[in-house]
Amino acid sequence: VRFDDASVLVTGASSGIGEALALELAGRGARLTLAARREARLLRLAEEVGRIGAPLPRVVVGDLTAAGEAERAARAAISAWGMLDALVNNAGVSAYGEEESFDLDEYRRIMEVNYFAPVRLTLAALPHFLARRRGLVVNVTSVAAIYGVPYLGAYGASKAALTNFSQALRAELRGTGVRVMVIYPNYTDTELFLREAVTGTARRPRIRHASAARVAAAVVRAAETNRRELVLTLTGKAMQRARGLAPGLLDRVLAGMATRLREPRATDRRRTS
Ligand SMILES: NC(=O)c1ccc[n+]([C@@H]2O[C@H](COP(=O)([O-])OP(=O)(O)OC[C@H]3O[C@@H](n4cnc5c(N)ncnc54)[C@H](OP(=O)(O)O)[C@@H]3O)[C@@H](O)[C@H]2O)c1
Repeated sequence: VRFDDASVLVTGASSGIGEALALELAGRGARLTLAARREARLLRLAEEVGRIGAPLPRVVVGDLTAAGEAERAARAAISAWGMLDALVNNAGVSAYGEEESFDLDEYRRIMEVNYFAPVRLTLAALPHFLARRRGLVVNVTSVAAIYGVPYLGAYGASKAALTNFSQALRAELRGTGVRVMVIYPNYTDTELFLREAVTGTARRPRIRHASAARVAAAVVRAAETNRRELVLTLTGKAMQRARGLAPGLLDRVLAGMATRLREPRATDRRRTS
């Protein structure tokens, strides 16, 4: 895939990985449609893209979980540029905590944003892609979709659902010219963590976070080289291997992690003793 002059819809472009992806694609000369709820952020980004010298993006403001909004975003992107070459389903929300600490409504809300919105966008763009016999769907899931990670059950389930949907669709679309890519980011330095619902008492692990710019550059490179899947970080790749080769070991490692994340940090323990 080449992105110069390509019409690309990026959801969740108002911050983090989506914003970085928009800038990376603008650097290639893509014609962008940017979707999210925070209008001011999208307009600021559109201006920045214009300053790079790329075509001024079209902005679609709305909650992708609201009735008709995902479909409206897809239509807006097609009509803004007369066509759509790639759909990047990046918008997402997170939640962290013991599985029993969430309301069922929280599980549903995460599914609406992380699973049903990308599915609806994909289905809305698909007839256009099939008619042109070309198109790329990039679905941003997570390393938490590879295997269930403690305290990320609700989030990981929504990402695993999107991964599975993507892989099924990829098989069905073989020979049509429409491709489906899955991206599994690991910890990335974004606002996701500031905005997530946190319940219960478990804490997030202290892990090095990649920059959104680095992740975005890797995603665009992977798309340009027609990769089917991109698992970020060695830990993510190790998880993928272990799932197939040593699932029992992976279970034990994750159980150890679950216990550690419920205990006070070593530094906190020293302070209180
Ligand atoms: N950061 C990580 O460590 C990490 C790891 C693995 C996977 N990911 C995935 O990467 C993707 C990007 O996340 P990020 O880390 O860049 O976080 P972020 O900075 O919080 O970005 C999330 C984006 O999604 C948009 N969004 C959320 N709910 C929406 C809704 N209902 N309708 C429309 N847009 C919505 C947000 O925009 P508005 O609030 O303006 O609507 C924002 O632009 C997500 O799918 C996330 O699950 C992130």
